Amino acid sequence: MRRARRFGPRALELFFLALLAFSTAQVVWWIYDQNRLAEADHDRVEALYRTEVELARHRLTEGATWEQVLAEAPHVEPDGASGVRVSTAALAELERERLGRLRRYGWEGGFFLAVLLASMVVLIRALRDEATLARRQQNFAAAVTHELKSPLASLQLSVDTIRLRRPGPERLDELAARMDADLDRLEGMVSKILDTASVESGNRRREREPVEIAALARALAAELAPRAAAAGVEIAVEAPSGLAALADPSGARTVLRNLLENALRATAAAGGGRVTVRARPEGPGVRLEVEDTGVGFPPEEASKLFLKFYRPGDELRRSGPGTGLGLYLVDRLMRLDDGWAAAESAGAGRGARFTVAWPTRPARDPAEEGA
Ligand SMILES: Nc1ncnc2c1ncn2[C@@H]1O[C@H](COP(=O)(O)OP(=O)(O)O)[C@@H](O)[C@H]1O
Ligand SMILES: [Mg+2]
Repeated sequence: MRRARRFGPRALELFFLALLAFSTAQVVWWIYDQNRLAEADHDRVEALYRTEVELARHRLTEGATWEQVLAEAPHVEPDGASGVRVSTAALAELERERLGRLRRYGWEGGFFLAVLLASMVVLIRALRDEATLARRQQNFAAAVTHELKSPLASLQLSVDTIRLRRPGPERLDELAARMDADLDRLEGMVSKILDTASVESGNRRREREPVEIAALARALAAELAPRAAAAGVEIAVEAPSGLAALADPSGARTVLRNLLENALRATAAAGGGRVTVRARPEGPGVRLEVEDTGVGFPPEEASKLFLKFYRPGDELRRSGPGTGLGLYLVDRLMRLDDGWAAAESAGAGRGARFTVAWPTRPARDPAEEGA
């Protein structure tokens, strides 16, 4: 059933592509054929003129006057003292007609060709985009399976250990910490999937409230602090207290959490470093940057990172956790608040900076009151 539905529109698109290709071939043939006809007509009339020349020569040797000759063979003229040739005016007229026809077929055919080729380009691009999305979706399915199964397996192992080994308090603490981490990972995965579903259903409640950006960033940084410390990553928040954006609070939290988690992971992968969160008022809104000294990415990947399921690099060799939903959610959630999101990096190994901006601050902004 599912396969039939996926196959349907694709087959239709391929059918139309074939139709367009066929029409293109027809137009090309039409142009060629019309040109050939125009040439043939031209040659036929020219041959006719040449018979007039023959006739004129014959009549002149019979002693007819030029006036009589021209009445019977109007497309000839004298050539030198005694010769006859096709009149230059007639030849010029013939040539003008031929060029006129060629030009008309060229324009008409060219127009159709342009329309057909443009349609084919659009269709091919749509087909290609669909194919890459389908491929990413498959990768995503594999990643989700892995993301759900590995923490579950790890939890099972911890439970088994506790039940069978009856570990002492120290080991028990270790196991509890590991189970916490596994649960975190599961919770993160599940909420990303649910958030994506709610963003895409289009009926997400768009509640906008003043959201204190600095407080939110500090709370999230504190949540991630143990993981950051373990990976040798320092998280700093540089934001004026009281700076608020008009945003969907749970959306803003998800945005910031995803950016921080990504930055933490990228910096940990570089062997440690620094993540800096900066927020400041910009125009009537708030701009927030999450900058890290992590592994970065090739600059040309910047806008693709926000695509659904997109993760740079070779799928098969990719080992780190992740699904490619995080930044997609960031982008969608920011748009729901009429804001935007952007990514920058000077290149692999050279850190990254993610910027988001909310367009409005609440009417009674505490930051402004203080100013
Ligand atoms: N701070 C960052 N530094 C370098 N690369 C990043 C950073 N944030 C995101 N990326 C790249 O963007 C990809 C997509 O991120 P995301 O949508 O959050 O998916 P996920 O985290 O599940 O891989 C990541 O796999 C990573 O390659
Ligand atoms: Mg992520």
